[in-house]
Amino acid sequence: MKKELEKLLQQAKKDIESATTPKDLEAVEVKYFGRKEGQLNLILKGLKDLSAEEKKEMGAKANDVKSHLQLLIEDKGQHLRGAAIDAKLESEWLDVTLPGKKPVFGHTHPMSVVQYELEDIFKSLGFMVLDGPQLESDYYNFQALNTPEHHPSRDSQDTFYVKNKAGNDKLVLRTHTSGMQVRAMQKYGAPIKVIVPGRVFRYEASDASHDNTFYQMEGLMVDKNISIANLIAIMKVLLKGILKRDVKVRLRPGFFPFVEPGFELDINCLICGGQGCSVCKHRGWLELWPCGMVHPEVLKAGGIDASEYSGFAFGLGLTRLVMMRYGIEDIRLLTSGDWRFLKQF
Ligand code: DAH
Repeated sequence: MKKELEKLLQQAKKDIESATTPKDLEAVEVKYFGRKEGQLNLILKGLKDLSAEEKKEMGAKANDVKSHLQLLIEDKGQHLRGAAIDAKLESEWLDVTLPGKKPVFGHTHPMSVVQYELEDIFKSLGFMVLDGPQLESDYYNFQALNTPEHHPSRDSQDTFYVKNKAGNDKLVLRTHTSGMQVRAMQKYGAPIKVIVPGRVFRYEASDASHDNTFYQMEGLMVDKNISIANLIAIMKVLLKGILKRDVKVRLRPGFFPFVEPGFELDINCLICGGQGCSVCKHRGWLELWPCGMVHPEVLKAGGIDASEYSGFAFGLGLTRLVMMRYGIEDIRLLTSGDWRFLKQF
């Protein structure tokens, strides 16, 4: 029996050594120490045929073998479990010192950059900034601005008419921000100083300088004793603030039903420096800023007494100003959403 135990010990050692997974090791344990078929128990069955002396000796020997092997199994088990963890760590290894991937952040659109700058300048002059509906009523877009239904000036501002289910008033995609003049006067009365930046629409064939969607900024100032001198002063402050340089300007008479007198403020084309290019239609000048003294009929529509108050208004071509500022040659780029274009700003 001694020999048998010795042999079992050697064989078991080999088996333990060659186990490569915790599962293998479990099988080894069962093979030798399993209750029914375990080899150690099979050997120990022979104990009953031995003398009391031998029983004692073999019993002790068997215990030695068993605890020796159990130690080995324990050791190997730890080793195999450690190796399994190492393998897992290896496969999931992550270099936390690598520089991260930077997400692409968007940024403010050039149109908004200029809009916000203008808002700041106007706010510093005491103007309110208002927003208005892009789907406007025919009344505010035209009629309240002294432009009745069959007025010929409507031709130059053809737009998209929208069916109004309520049926009270015709709705249009607003052709200008001017409709907000009357809304603002009705709401806040006089004196008043407001600007209204916003998106406007026209039924327009597009080219380098025309698009069906663009941006304007309306301005309105009504108070006692307001004259063209106030208008010119405000324009000068603004142009300098925005274009950050001196530009040549000229004022010409211009017709708009809602101002009297009306003007066009032109600036020297900043793209070609006045030589003539596709943006200024080879005129060297760009119409930037139509303006004028608010027509008494418009003051009346706004609920303001024209004998007591007067005011000026202007419709700044925000889109055109942005093109000038950055030297953008095609208006359509601004609404294209093209990243190659946008990332330059
Ligand atoms: N609303 C006009 C347009 O879009 C521009 C305009 C002209 C606005 C004269 C004004 C103004 O406030 O006084 O063509």
